[in-house]
Amino acid sequence: MRHLIDITDLSTQEIGHILTTALDIIAHREKYADICRHHKLATLFYEPSTRTRLSFTSAMMELGGNVLGFSDAQTSSVSKGETVQDTVRVVENFVDIIAMRHPLEGAPAQGAKVARVPIINAGDGSHAHPTQTLTDLLTILREKGRLDGFTIGYCGDLKFGRTVHSLIQALSRYEGVRMICIAPDELRLPSQYKTKNIVKEVRTLEEAISKLDVLYMTRVQQERFLDMDEFERVKNSFELNLAKLHNAKSDCVILHPLPRVNEILPEVDADPRAAYFRQVENGKFVRMALILFLLGLA
Ligand code: CP
Repeated sequence: MRHLIDITDLSTQEIGHILTTALDIIAHREKYADICRHHKLATLFYEPSTRTRLSFTSAMMELGGNVLGFSDAQTSSVSKGETVQDTVRVVENFVDIIAMRHPLEGAPAQGAKVARVPIINAGDGSHAHPTQTLTDLLTILREKGRLDGFTIGYCGDLKFGRTVHSLIQALSRYEGVRMICIAPDELRLPSQYKTKNIVKEVRTLEEAISKLDVLYMTRVQQERFLDMDEFERVKNSFELNLAKLHNAKSDCVILHPLPRVNEILPEVDADPRAAYFRQVENGKFVRMALILFLLGLA
C-alpha cells in the first residue's frame, strides 16, 4: 500500500506513469467511467478548499465511485477533540482511500502512520501540496509539450507557499530546468527548498519576466502570517497586468494554483498565455489518475 504525503514519495518514473494515465483519461474518458464503481473516497478537509476538494470529488465521481467526508472539521467529532489518527482509524472502515487537508504540517503523515488505506496529502500547512504539483506538471506538459529544458519563475509567497515547495522538488529532477525566485525579502524561499536549479533570486517581476517560459504566480497567504503588520507590508508585492506581460515571451505559460487575490488582474485572463483555468481542469484528470494508481487500478 502506498501513500502520497510528499511529491518525493513518487519516483520520476511513477510521476510519468500518472501523467500518461491522465493523458489517456483525457483522450478516452468513457474507458474510465466505471472503473471505481465499488470504491469510495473520503475527503477530510480541516482547512478551506474549493479546487482540491471539489476536483477530488469530481475525479472519483467520473471514475464511477462514491465520495464522503467533511469540508469543515467543526461539523465532525474533531470539534470534540478527536485526533487525526483516531479519525483515520474510524474513516478507513468506510472507504478505500482518503484525501486529507490540514493546517498543521505533518498531519496527513501522522494519519498515514496508522492507516490501512492510502492517504493523500491534499495540502498541509506551509509544507507540501503534491497533488497540486501533479496538476502543475500535467499543465506544463500539455502547454509546453515537455517537462525539461525551460526556465520557470516562482513569484509571490515562496516562504509559506506549499505549492511552490512541492513543485521545486519535482521539477529539480528534470533535465535543464532553470528556476528564478521572485519574492520580497520577507517571503524568500526557505533554505531547505534551495536547489542548484535556482539560477537567480530577485525582488521584482520586471527583473525576470522576459526570461521566463513558465511564470508561476502565487497568493500572499494571510492565513499563514503570525504578524499582521508584516502581512500588510507585503500583501500587494506583485501585480501581473497586461502592461507587464508586454515584456514576457509570446509563448510564456502563466500558471497560478489559485485562489488569486490581487496578484493577477482579471484583464490578463483573456490572454492566451493565461493557463490557470486550464490548470484547474487538469487537476481533475491527474487526481483521477492518482486515485487509480494508489488503488492499484492503473
Ligand atoms: N490550489 C488549491 O489548493 O486550491 P484550493 O485551496 O481551493 O483547494
